[in-house]
Amino acid sequence: MTTSQTAASGGPLLEVTRPKLVPLHGVPMPDIFVENWKAVEEFQATTGDLLIATYPKAGTTWVQEIVDFILQGGDVERCRRAPINTRMPFLEFNLPGQITSGLESLAAMPSPKVIKTHLPFQLLPKSFLEQKCKIIYCARNAKDNLVSYYHFDLMNRLQPHPGSWEEYFQSYLRGNVSYGLWHDHVKGWWENKDRHSILYLFYEDMKEDPRREILKMARFLGKDLPDAVIAGIVHHTSFQSMKDNPMSNYSNVPASIFDVSASSFMRKGAVGDWKNYFTVAQDEAFEDDYKRRMKGSDLRFRTEL
Ligand code: A3P
Repeated sequence: MTTSQTAASGGPLLEVTRPKLVPLHGVPMPDIFVENWKAVEEFQATTGDLLIATYPKAGTTWVQEIVDFILQGGDVERCRRAPINTRMPFLEFNLPGQITSGLESLAAMPSPKVIKTHLPFQLLPKSFLEQKCKIIYCARNAKDNLVSYYHFDLMNRLQPHPGSWEEYFQSYLRGNVSYGLWHDHVKGWWENKDRHSILYLFYEDMKEDPRREILKMARFLGKDLPDAVIAGIVHHTSFQSMKDNPMSNYSNVPASIFDVSASSFMRKGAVGDWKNYFTVAQDEAFEDDYKRRMKGSDLRFRTEL
């Protein structure tokens, strides 16, 4: 990947060339992230650090915002202290010479920290488990996850271009996207959830009953909050509130990275949007492949509510 900067009124404009995917222990990853892998692998988490882990586009930002609200006792102003990607650094993020990396942000932060990652379980730096850090994992059904990821890759210039919808559909089924196969990711974390301090959540459950899932997260974090505070958190972390909030809608990301003319970060936030994109033939191919890849797993998803 090559990058350069050009002067623009109001500050430097980043010019970003889309990265290539390269295998990291068999998992396709953006080359810029792999360049920094050794340091990421050696990251030293501290007891008390909290990790939010997801496959990309499974509702990471939503969980992050809820967690911050819980930790701040529902204080709206405190949750607006900085953009979400500053409040909770993205562990493996790396764009050399352009934007502060996840590791650099974490080094400058006091403990305990809340950290975001998309790494599959098998690539998680060992220190998180050694330090018995709490981990919240959120999974989203594969079909909506695919549709969301396609639109994200259209707008995010730190991902390879997705190509046409059909091309992307095929890449996703082959696992030829950043972080690899959705199936392996959700199963890897599912199979390890009872051996560690992992709260495994589902995007569809959060849509169905956000209050119930927020209470689940609060309990996991050892926070007992009054009903009125929980109601406030439900309100401030709704799709519309987060879409309107510059501290959670990623509007701080330069247009040279997030091209919002292609799609927006807070796009639809729905369950079942896949029906607007999948053809009948794609749905059949998807279901066949899904049965094969998820065979033997007791992990179940809902694709509509
Ligand atoms: P869509 O593209 O389907 O709209 P991530 O944070 O992991 O990148 O996930 C982004 C997806 O979560 C996007 O999905 C986004 O709209 C959705 N999302 C973010 N905040 C949400 C909220 N408060 N409620 C519902 N969906 C939300």
